[in-house]
Amino acid sequence: MAVLVTGGAGYIGSHTVAALRERGEEIIIVDNMQQGHQEALLAGKLYKGDLRDSDFMDVVFGENRIDAVIHFAANSLVGESMKEPGKYYHNNVYGTLCLLEKMKQYNVGSIVFSSTAATYGEPENVPIDEYDRTLPTNAYGETKLAMEKMMKWYDVAHGIKYISLRYFNAAGAHESGAIGEDHSPETHLIPIVLEAALGKRPHISVFGEDYDTPDGTCIRDYIHVSDLADAHVLAVERLRGGADSSVYNLGNGKGFSVKEVIDIARSVTGRDIPAVMEPRRAGDPAVLVASSERARKELGWSPSRNTLEQIIASAWQWHSAHPEGYRK
Ligand code: UFG
Repeated sequence: MAVLVTGGAGYIGSHTVAALRERGEEIIIVDNMQQGHQEALLAGKLYKGDLRDSDFMDVVFGENRIDAVIHFAANSLVGESMKEPGKYYHNNVYGTLCLLEKMKQYNVGSIVFSSTAATYGEPENVPIDEYDRTLPTNAYGETKLAMEKMMKWYDVAHGIKYISLRYFNAAGAHESGAIGEDHSPETHLIPIVLEAALGKRPHISVFGEDYDTPDGTCIRDYIHVSDLADAHVLAVERLRGGADSSVYNLGNGKGFSVKEVIDIARSVTGRDIPAVMEPRRAGDPAVLVASSERARKELGWSPSRNTLEQIIASAWQWHSAHPEGYRK
């Protein structure tokens, strides 16, 4: 049986494909190549197309024996979602509806979902656990929450079991150095800081110095992309073993401010990274830090690339060797 990975040519998707390959899984990938890179695929059979294209998805499900889906395909930028919410509802929410309908039609009963800390919004408690309130402060998080809720009702009505993985801030790159983060445009903190270290940008803009945090900049919980990838593999195994639907946070449990990230990047790269203070970016909560106790206990997940130095060093290995990303 094969695992279908939607959005498998993207950043977290491609690292998960690499982890599935290590387990000897048969892998089918669907990607509309909006953010995906063919060179990022270390394994699997790629179908280029969109979840919202019903005839295309009939070919994918018709040609393969798929028993589980890992669903990454979505737009995922907080800032963009505040300017173009319609794009997020169409691609993320409607795309998931189309996927679940196909799973129902082809009797595929397991889905692992790429969710986000942005479903919580401004947290009630730090660290956040899975029972905390979900009140997104941006349209992106709202669409991911809607997708989770849709899966809940497809479980109730059609018995499709889901595991939703709410990740905090994915960063770093595969230890082989073969794949890494390449978004266009890039909006994430760590790759932008490293582009500034490479001299590809004149400086890093720090969005807001007036948050209620010790140094005034936002605090995030950075987790290595390969640790995230491992959690997806464990989640597929858990669903195949007959487990019930559930939600897990994936993070390190330690927060770093934007200024701390920049300082650690300076020490890892040995480069001068100029920083410029700018106003807040819309939709950013002040502090997002995970409690991942539940994932550790129930999934048996134990992230192993834990320090921010390690995470940034692996990203630096990729960025310094591929200053233009996947472009030749
Ligand atoms: N930041 C800057 N300057 C930049 C880029 C980012 O100061 O040039 C700041 C942001 O304002 C934020 C922090 O760095 O405070 C991290 O920003 P990212 O854009 O790297 O990540 P986000 O926390 O906004 O979002 C990421 C993913 C989301 C996910 C979220 C969960 O993009 O998909 O983590 O925490 F939902």
